Amino acid sequence: MARLVIVSNRVPDPAERGQRAGGLVVSLAEALAPGSLWFGWSGKTAAHTSRAAKQVEAGGLSYATIDLGETDYRAFYLGFSNGSLWPLFHMMPGNAVFDRGDYAIYREVNQAFAAALLPLLRPDDLIWIHDYQLLGVAAALRVAGVTNRIGFFLHIPFPAPALFELLPPATALLEAMLTHDVIGFQTTQDRGHFLGALSSRLGLAASDGVVIHRNRKINCVVTPVGIDADSFTVMATNIARRIDARRMIESLAGRALMLGVDRLDYTKGLPERFDAYRRFLQDYPEHRRQISFLQIAAPSREEVERYRTLREELNHKTGSINGAYSDFDWVPLRYMTRTAARSTVAGLYRIARIGLVTPLRDGMNLVAKEYVAAQNPADPGVLILSRFAGAAAGMPEAILVNPYDIDAVAEAIAAALVMPQEERQARHAALLERVQDVSAAAYCRAFTAWLAGTGG
Ligand code: F6P
Repeated sequence: MARLVIVSNRVPDPAERGQRAGGLVVSLAEALAPGSLWFGWSGKTAAHTSRAAKQVEAGGLSYATIDLGETDYRAFYLGFSNGSLWPLFHMMPGNAVFDRGDYAIYREVNQAFAAALLPLLRPDDLIWIHDYQLLGVAAALRVAGVTNRIGFFLHIPFPAPALFELLPPATALLEAMLTHDVIGFQTTQDRGHFLGALSSRLGLAASDGVVIHRNRKINCVVTPVGIDADSFTVMATNIARRIDARRMIESLAGRALMLGVDRLDYTKGLPERFDAYRRFLQDYPEHRRQISFLQIAAPSREEVERYRTLREELNHKTGSINGAYSDFDWVPLRYMTRTAARSTVAGLYRIARIGLVTPLRDGMNLVAKEYVAAQNPADPGVLILSRFAGAAAGMPEAILVNPYDIDAVAEAIAAALVMPQEERQARHAALLERVQDVSAAAYCRAFTAWLAGTGG
């Protein structure tokens, strides 16, 4: 069997695998057969970007990482990846900045990734590259003569063509993407946007997701990311019995818990969510003291200015909501800007009567799927989900909302709070089946089959 080589910007710390496993590790677990290689950034900066990777073996896998030079980190990671591509791909051009110098370094860093990976490659390796930080790695590998099959999966949305075209190097990025053999998207809408951009910028037509470019065939496929629902259910059930969870339940004093869990990112719609909660408190005084909203927001990309202003904005809104509505014995909003352990969060999901997942735009959003998997089927909570998360395409039994419409989100909170048990059970049963079907394992199987040339 061919070896699988995963290439991603962040590489999990082998020492932490399993305990603090992040999203990508969980999603890829099924594909990582012993002997696979995982290549990417170490998460560390140095005086210069490394020319050669450092390799360690752990748990049957090889991990190879490079450090980024400080200047490269700023221009590649903070600059073009997270200052230009991230906001634009999430269709929020107002948050995007463009700098030609940053883009030049983005290309150079992608070339440095390719150069350090090259000596580690074997002729029949299947190479699977992940996400927007690495759009140009395959093109650099091709220039170096690599003929292996290379796949790319975009974890974030692909924007509508009219927005994609705002990127000065739009054409160059499409050309670079077309050096892969397979390009995977989370939803049919994302793939449609990409094919639309190919048509408007390069005049290319696709048939059944297949594009022919420079005598090469590229499969554009939809393979949504999922979770391992059964193991998440077990973790949530076990943790919900432990002491932290009992403390949480005691502190609620019989009130319903509404829970939000996100990275502190402007795409997650947190200011709008807080405004909607305030609107709910204002418009539904009869429900006021029946609910407690806990928002966990893990700090992220704090060196990007827009993330700092977001943090200040949320601090301000929290103070304002609690100042206006708190009582001697009740605080309406608990807001935590710390990273909580995955297992703790699993237990909290199970306790929560409402899961509030309202990003303004999101590639998939695995919180929505984890929330469903964590529920007690006999007495499940209600998922309120943004229509603009990729997950919404496959979760029609959630209460779907437009996160910009704060009145509608306030209404949804009130509806969730009083939803009868039979309706909660019926919605949850349907959602759980979908989350179990569109699993992490199914994602890996579908994408690797396309990569190996046996998909479809
Ligand atoms: O899914 C989008 C993504 O950028 C991943 O690539 C990344 O691992 C995660 O969000 C967290 O972002 P960052 O790596 O910038 O901390």
